[in-house]
Amino acid sequence: MQMRTDADLLSLFAPGTGRDDDGGLRIAGCRVDDLAATYGTPLLLVDEGHLRATVRAWQAGLEVRLPGARVTFASKAFPCTAIYRLMAEEGVGVDVAGGGELAQAIAGGVDPARMILHGNAKSDAEIGAAHAAGVGLVVIDNLDDLDRLERLVVHEQGVLVRITPGVEGDTHASISTGGLDAKFGLPIDQAAVALRRAAAHPLLRVDGVHIHIGSQILEAAPFAASVRTLADLLAGEELGPFAVYDLGGGLGVRYTYDDAPAGLDAYLDALADAARTLLPSGARVLLEPGRALVARSAATIYRVVTHKRTGRDFVAIDGGMADNLEVALFGQRFEVAHATRPLAADATVCDVVGRHCESGDRLVEDALLPETLVGDLLAVPVTGAYCFTMANNYNGALRLPVVFARDGEHRAVVRRETHADLMARDLA
Ligand SMILES: Cc1ncc(COP(=O)(O)O)c(C=O)c1O
Repeated sequence: MQMRTDADLLSLFAPGTGRDDDGGLRIAGCRVDDLAATYGTPLLLVDEGHLRATVRAWQAGLEVRLPGARVTFASKAFPCTAIYRLMAEEGVGVDVAGGGELAQAIAGGVDPARMILHGNAKSDAEIGAAHAAGVGLVVIDNLDDLDRLERLVVHEQGVLVRITPGVEGDTHASISTGGLDAKFGLPIDQAAVALRRAAAHPLLRVDGVHIHIGSQILEAAPFAASVRTLADLLAGEELGPFAVYDLGGGLGVRYTYDDAPAGLDAYLDALADAARTLLPSGARVLLEPGRALVARSAATIYRVVTHKRTGRDFVAIDGGMADNLEVALFGQRFEVAHATRPLAADATVCDVVGRHCESGDRLVEDALLPETLVGDLLAVPVTGAYCFTMANNYNGALRLPVVFARDGEHRAVVRRETHADLMARDLA
């Protein structure tokens, strides 16, 4: 196994993460061991300053390349009130997939006019709630969405039609959505029907079209290719020009040493070049990043519960697949840092495993860690995307709290669940 330095490891965390002289890890100016003592473990720690800086970099980078274009946070990546509120404060809209995220976004103070409703199975209630709330754009994913809209709308409603472009990025099959066999969106012939039908309805305002080719796509080229394909598909059906082209999200992030995602600038350059040359001038481009906005700003802090040496060296922590399903669902690799001891030449290889009753609950296989004892703290970087989202109660796990840290200050924005929460819905 290749030896890594502590600096290599810390480079995966939000910038500014470092160690005190005694080896203690400091994130957003806060000692991780102090936070663990205050809030307990496992704990999802968000570097609020880095998150805000990331959102601003996206907005500024997009505005300079495509004036008037907008960043819309794909809120499925981290749906909690404080994150919605932060996005609202930073002036970005959000995409919501269904009535639950809609309710959360409203509670977080996001302007409904800056919301986009997604989903491949939206109910009457969800479409009705979005329409009543004044959601700016409802994305028609299928002809049943259109039936519902035609039946339910009582005032003007902006809509987009989601098209399956037939472009796939190199990513896990479960998070690839641009292929022609994807369950999302409509093939161009049916999209043409939907666009023409919606345009004929007196209260539906067809603003444009939407594509999203997948998630954790590390290269910029597939995004540019998707714009080219979209433009060709629309031209083939003589559709457009439209006021809005929503090009989705999907930019990948660096989870582990060898990941080399396109940087924000390279990604925006590729997309903006494609948009400038292939889309009508004056059209508004929307982007819907989820993972790339939030992933690197958070780390999960765990405490070591047991350390067992059989044929392998198992370091078992107090969390696992109840707070991070990315590993079991998508095979995503993460790295792990000891929170009070730097990675050094004496590090050994072990498996950091979760506490859940699945052999697949291995958070970090072949992890490199310094001497690790029961009671020590570990920090897994890049857990800001889809980890909180898919947190669950497997084996009675209490879903973890979220703590925002910034310049040495910290505050809990989501509390830890209690055993009473686990039984709160039980009626008998
Ligand atoms: C329609 C849509 N937009 C945006 C996103 C965000 O993707 P990512 O988090 O990879 O940026 C998703 C996620 O799957 C999506 O389904």
